[in-house]
Amino acid sequence: MDVKEALAKRQSIRAYRPEPVAREVIERILEAAGKSPSGVNMQPWEIVVVQGQAKDALCQKVEKAFLEDLDDPADYQYYPEKWIEPFKSRRMACGLQMYEALGIERKDKERRKGQWAANYRAFDAPVVIYFLMKNHFGEGTYLDFGMFIQSIALAAVEEGLGTCIQAALADYPTIVKEAIGYADKDHRLVCGMALGYPDMEHPSNTYRTPREPISAFTTFID
Ligand SMILES: Cc1cc2nc3c(=O)[nH]c(=O)nc-3n(C[C@H](O)[C@H](O)[C@H](O)COP(=O)(O)O)c2cc1C
Repeated sequence: MDVKEALAKRQSIRAYRPEPVAREVIERILEAAGKSPSGVNMQPWEIVVVQGQAKDALCQKVEKAFLEDLDDPADYQYYPEKWIEPFKSRRMACGLQMYEALGIERKDKERRKGQWAANYRAFDAPVVIYFLMKNHFGEGTYLDFGMFIQSIALAAVEEGLGTCIQAALADYPTIVKEAIGYADKDHRLVCGMALGYPDMEHPSNTYRTPREPISAFTTFID
């Protein structure tokens, strides 16, 4: 598979088949993603791969925290505080597309909340990867993490796997860090990623999100 094919094929997968992912497959993906660039080759990324009963137990705790409205905000602000156009409309369209595919009506708050809660189970993927960054690092390190995370997502495509990069998995960081051995470390939880074999029959995975033409975000100066 070439790079452009992997880029075109990658999509956020929000429903998975139950089969586990073999350790050597995960290691192949991580080996490839470890080749990602980072400023002065710092390789600042740290990850925790959680599967099996440990994954179920942690996700249950986090989903419960969400359903009980527990106050444990993310370690940093990912989304803008105030939404401006055109991002506000794109965000709305993104949600609408998903709810439409799932047949969830706009006013059906219960089912919408249920679908959001599925985030905290990593959409029932067999594997969750948590990304952790030392608080020591500056803002630039988020760039390095982005490179690494996208590399994992692309290498996973080549292995026939699906991913969903999830800011939601950075919520409830106290609970997550306690469960993954980071309670006493000085790290922020950057995000999580669901990983597993995609269930392509599931309505969540049957649509693709649109993109702007390159003219919308590019200035050529010749
Ligand atoms: C950093 C980051 C955080 C994201 N967080 C979530 C999330 O919490 N829940 C979710 O369902 N999707 C999440 N997504 C997926 C985006 O919604 C998705 O990438 C976007 O709509 C484009 O769709 P595509 O990935 O299918 O191409 C996130 C993506 C990125 C890059």
